[in-house]
Amino acid sequence: MEKYIINGGKELFGEVTISGAKNAAASILPGTLLVDGIIRISNVPDIHDVQLTLRILEALGAACRYIHRSVVEIDCRKLKSHEVPVQLGVQMRASHFFLGAMLARSGEAGSPLPGGCDFGTRPIDQHLKGFEAMGASVSVQNDCVRIRVPEGKKLHGADIRFDLVTVGATMNLMLAAVLAEGVTVLRNAAKEPHVADLAGFLNAMGADVSGAGTDTVTIRGVKALHGGEYSLIPDQIEAGTYMAAAAAAGGSVKICNVIPPHLSCITAVLKKMNVQVTEGSDFVQVTGDGRLKGTDIETAPYPGFPTDMQPQIGALLCLADGTSSIHEAVWADRFRYLEELKRMGASSEAEGQHALIHGKPGLHGAEMTACDLRAGAAMIIASLATQGKSEIRNIQLIERGYQDITGKLSGLGADIHCERQ
Ligand code: EPU
Repeated sequence: MEKYIINGGKELFGEVTISGAKNAAASILPGTLLVDGIIRISNVPDIHDVQLTLRILEALGAACRYIHRSVVEIDCRKLKSHEVPVQLGVQMRASHFFLGAMLARSGEAGSPLPGGCDFGTRPIDQHLKGFEAMGASVSVQNDCVRIRVPEGKKLHGADIRFDLVTVGATMNLMLAAVLAEGVTVLRNAAKEPHVADLAGFLNAMGADVSGAGTDTVTIRGVKALHGGEYSLIPDQIEAGTYMAAAAAAGGSVKICNVIPPHLSCITAVLKKMNVQVTEGSDFVQVTGDGRLKGTDIETAPYPGFPTDMQPQIGALLCLADGTSSIHEAVWADRFRYLEELKRMGASSEAEGQHALIHGKPGLHGAEMTACDLRAGAAMIIASLATQGKSEIRNIQLIERGYQDITGKLSGLGADIHCERQ
C-alpha cells in the first residue's frame, strides 16, 4: 500500500517542465502497428499507462527499446498476434486503440472491453459502428471485442457521422482508415489537440489525413506507412494541473514546455478566479496569493473547458469565495472526488451532472482515497493549499497519468512524499 503524505500550506515557487501528452501517447503508440519500419518517438511521458501500452505492443510481437527516459524506438514489422492480452487490456481505457490499428494492419483484432477510470458507463458503440461502416464484422462476447474483415474483402473508406463528439472513436477510426481502400470522412469529429497530434504522427509516416482539429477529418487510404521520428505534444492536462496547484497554494510558478493556446480555456477560468496568468511562447507563469474568487464552469469537448480539469478546478472552488456551480457535460459520474474533499471540511452538493460548491477560506488536513486519476490530482491540490497533514491513498491511479508528480511538486517547494508500506 502506497500513499502520498502532504504537509500543506506552503507557497510554490520556481519552474516545472511538463511531460508529453498521455492521451496523445495513448493512440500514437498503438498507431506504430501501422508502420513498416522503425519509429523513434520522443517526449513520451514516463507513466504507468505508457508502460502498459508498450507491454501490449511487445505481447503482439513489437520490439520496443528505450533510448532515453522519454524516447522510445518501436519496430512492429514482425508481429505474432492480433489479440490484446486480456490481463493487460482490462487495465486501461486506451487499449481499444489496438482494435483500430490491428484491424488496419492485419484485417482482424481482438481486445477485452476497455478498463480505465470509472466515471459512469464508457461505451464504445461509436467505434464499433465506424468499423462496421468500413466493412468489418464486429462481435462482443464474454467482455471481449472481436473485429475482422470478412474473407476475400478489404477494409474500405466510409462516410461516418458520430452521434456525439467522441475523442476515442475519432482517433480509433483515423487509425483504421489510414491503410483502407478509398476515402474515409469522419463528421462531428473531436477537435482535441491530441487528435491533431495523431494526424501529425500518421502524416509524418506517409499517411494522408486532413482536417484533424476541425469537426470533419478526411483520411485518404495509402498503401503503406514508413518509419521516421515524431515528438509528442506536451500534456495539456498535466500543465493545467500545475496551474491549478500554483493557484491553490499561492506563489509563482513558471510552467514550461507547454503550448499556451491549448491552455486558453483553463487560463480564462483561472483569471476569473483572481489568479494572474501570463503567457510566453512555450510557457505560462501562474501567480496567486491563494485568495480565490468563485466562478461557474461547464465542461465541453475542445475547445471548451476540459472535463479532465474539472476535478482540479473543483478543488480550487472548494477554497474560493462564494458558491460556484459545475456542470459536467461529458461524463455521467465525475463528482466522487467531492465526497473525499468533504473529509477536509469542503462543502458541496452534487446531483447527476451538476454540482454546487460552497467555498471556504480554509480546509483541514485529512486522509483521502483517490477514486480516479484526476480526482487524485484534485486531492493533491486541495492538500497543498491546506495547513496540516493530508494522506492520499490509491496513488497508483494518479501515477497512471502523472510523471513524477511528487518530484515535480517538491521541486516547487511543496512538502510531499510517497510512503511505501
Ligand atoms: N461515448 C459514447 N460512445 C462511444 C464513445 C464515447 O457514448 O462509443 C461517450 C462517453 O460515454 C462520454 C463521451 O462520449 O460520455 C465522450 O467520450 P470520449 O470517447 O470522448 O472519451 P474517451 O476517448 O473514452 C478520452 C480520454 C479521457 C477524457 C475524454 C474526454 C483517453 C485515454 N481518455 O476518453 O481522459 O476524459 O477523452 O476528453 O484519451 C483522463 O485523462 O483523465 C481521461 C479520462
